[in-house]
Amino acid sequence: LVKDQEEMNKKIDELIATLPVESEGSVPLYQFKGCWYPSFAIRGNIAADLHFQAQDSDILLASAPKSGTTWMKALVFSIVNRHRHPPNESPLLTTLSHNLIKYIEFRHYLNGNIPENLDQFPKPRLFATHSHYASLPHSIRHSSCRIVYVCRNPLDTFVSFFHFLRLYPKNQPDMDATYVKYCRGIIQFGPFWDNIMGYWQASLEKPEKVLFMKYEDLKEDIVFEMKRLEKFLGFPFSVEEENEGLVEEISSLCSFENLKNLEVNRSEKPTRPGGPPFNSFYRKGEVGDFVNHLNPCMVENLVTITQEKFAGSGLVF
Ligand code: A3P
Repeated sequence: LVKDQEEMNKKIDELIATLPVESEGSVPLYQFKGCWYPSFAIRGNIAADLHFQAQDSDILLASAPKSGTTWMKALVFSIVNRHRHPPNESPLLTTLSHNLIKYIEFRHYLNGNIPENLDQFPKPRLFATHSHYASLPHSIRHSSCRIVYVCRNPLDTFVSFFHFLRLYPKNQPDMDATYVKYCRGIIQFGPFWDNIMGYWQASLEKPEKVLFMKYEDLKEDIVFEMKRLEKFLGFPFSVEEENEGLVEEISSLCSFENLKNLEVNRSEKPTRPGGPPFNSFYRKGEVGDFVNHLNPCMVENLVTITQEKFAGSGLVF
């Protein structure tokens, strides 16, 4: 198997060398199946496409980076595991949500590795991805597993991403240059419009398979959105649970203010060697912070691009 893996990685590296390439700070991004990937995630994407066996009970959490993934992971984990882990004993109190629900293409199948223990995960198994809908592993698209997609308005997503890039000292990103690339779709797992649109269309065509959620809606009415989520996931709250205030308890557990202030999420240590620090996943957690960072021209231009890309889709921000 190791030999097969080495052979496969060699072939993937040969493929990567032929792909269009752009840079994001010091990181090269390669365009594969219409999506801009760092190389390690392409290897992971291909390995998962070949080897990942989805189960109908699996739940996949999909998003473009900086769209509210950390929050959604906390919510999904807490809803699904509430009998095993009541909110006051939640692993979230001591563990970053990214270590409870890991990305398929750059954690489980990182660099093309094939994990062996996925069958032993408790059901429903929870996974995450930043890949586009069209390039999800084959067995995910062709099984009855469920997908929750969270998106966020591109202005705040861009600002959040820019701050995230700045954490890597080697990068020293320049706001204007990063913005120009973002508008051309060149950003990890972008173009943002394709990332969003694939899941939006899938949610219209297969509402039983894909639930489309917005960061802004979660901020506005978390209880309402959690009820959409629990029903879709097949874990509806009982009348007793609702009367006991469990929905509110979970929403408070997963709130920005609560999670941000936990020791684990305040840590400046890297989440993995070379990875972002734990505290980088909690910055401001607000809607509309873009006004503090983008000038009116940048805002207008990005709004126009977004409107053009989403015209006629029914999707508005
Ligand atoms: P800001 O940089 O605008 O503050 P992701 O989880 O996809 O990486 O997205 C990160 C963004 O979500 C950051 O936005 C972060 O502060 C915000 N965020 C993280 N946890 C949150 C929570 N529990 N509630 C609301 N926003 C949260």
